[in-house]
Amino acid sequence: MAANVPKVTISNGSQTMPLPVIGLGTATHPQVSETTKSAILDAIETGYRHFDTAFIYGSEQPLGEAIAEAIKTGLIKSRDELFITSKLWCTFASPELVLPAIKTSLKNLQLDYLDLFLVHWPLKISGEVKRLPIPKETIFPIDIKAVWEVMEECQNLGLTKAIGVSNFSIRRLDELLSFAKIPPSVNQVEMNPLWQQKDLRGFCKAKGIQITAYSPLGSRGSKWGNNESLEYKVLEEIAKAKGKTAAQVSLRWVYEQGVSFVPKSFNKDRMKQNLDIFNWSLTEEELNKISKLPQRRGVLPSIFMEPSDLVREIEAEI
Ligand code: A2P
Repeated sequence: MAANVPKVTISNGSQTMPLPVIGLGTATHPQVSETTKSAILDAIETGYRHFDTAFIYGSEQPLGEAIAEAIKTGLIKSRDELFITSKLWCTFASPELVLPAIKTSLKNLQLDYLDLFLVHWPLKISGEVKRLPIPKETIFPIDIKAVWEVMEECQNLGLTKAIGVSNFSIRRLDELLSFAKIPPSVNQVEMNPLWQQKDLRGFCKAKGIQITAYSPLGSRGSKWGNNESLEYKVLEEIAKAKGKTAAQVSLRWVYEQGVSFVPKSFNKDRMKQNLDIFNWSLTEEELNKISKLPQRRGVLPSIFMEPSDLVREIEAEI
C-alpha cells in the first residue's frame, strides 16, 4: 500500500507532475547490490513510491531488479506508480555522451523512461573514475549550454519526463536559465537543519524550481556524514518534548520548508519512522530554534574530488 505521502507539483516546462515529497536515497559506500535490492523492496512495501538513484551510486541495477520484482509479485501494478530519478555522471557531461548515458541508465533500471534526469554536478570529469578522491587534473568546467541542449532532447524524446540539476548554485542556475528552453524542474542539493540553504531556497522558489534535499539527516553514519548532526542538543530536545526522534524532527523541518527530500535508510523500522512525519507539526518556537542553529557548509565535493580551484569554488557556492 502506498503510504499517505504528500506530493509537491513540479513543472517540466509544458506539464505539471506530482512528486512524492519523500523519496528513498540509494547511495551507499561501499556499494551493496543485494542489500540495496531488498531494502528497496522493503521500501516499496512500506509505502515509498519515489526513488533516487544515480549512475555513480551503482544502485540503478538493484533498483531496476527491485522494480521488476515488485511488479511481478504484485506489490505494485505498474512502473507508472513510481517516481524514479537518476543522474548524469560527470564523465558523461559532454554533449555527445548524454544520450548514451541516459540509455545506459534506462538499461540498468530496465525502464523505458525516467521521471527525472539530473545533471549530477556542474563539472566535467575526463576518463573513468578509477580512484577516489578523483584526481584534480581530470576535473574540468562543464559546457552546461551544450550539455543542457541534449538534456532537453532527452525530455523531448520521451526518455525522461522532466530534467533538472544537482549541486547548482544561484550563479550557475542563473546562467542556465539565461539560455534554457526547458528550465530545470528540480535542483537537488544538500540541505538539513545544519545547512539550511536559505538564499538558494529563496532563489529557487522565485524561479519555480523545486529543491530536493539530499542528506536531509546530515548523512549520519555514512563515511562523509557529520555524525554530530542528529545529536545536536536543540534537535534532541525538540524531539524529546514531542515524543519523536531527532531524525524525524530534521525531516519534518525540511518538509515544512516546502522542500522534497530523499533520506537514505536501508533499515525497515527507520524507513517507517521517516515516513511518519506528516500528521504532526513543529511549533513557531521550535521552527525559530532550528532556524538559529549554527550552520556548516556541505563538504561533499572535497571528499570525492581532490581540491582544485574549481572544486573549491563549487563547494563555496552550494
Ligand atoms: P540506516 O540506513 O542504517 O538507517 P542521509 O539521508 O542524511 O544521507 O542519512 C543517511 C544515514 O542516516 C544512513 O546512515 C542511515 O542509516 C541513517 N538514518 C536514516 N534514517 C534514520 C533515522 N530515522 N534515525 C537514525 N538514523 C537514520
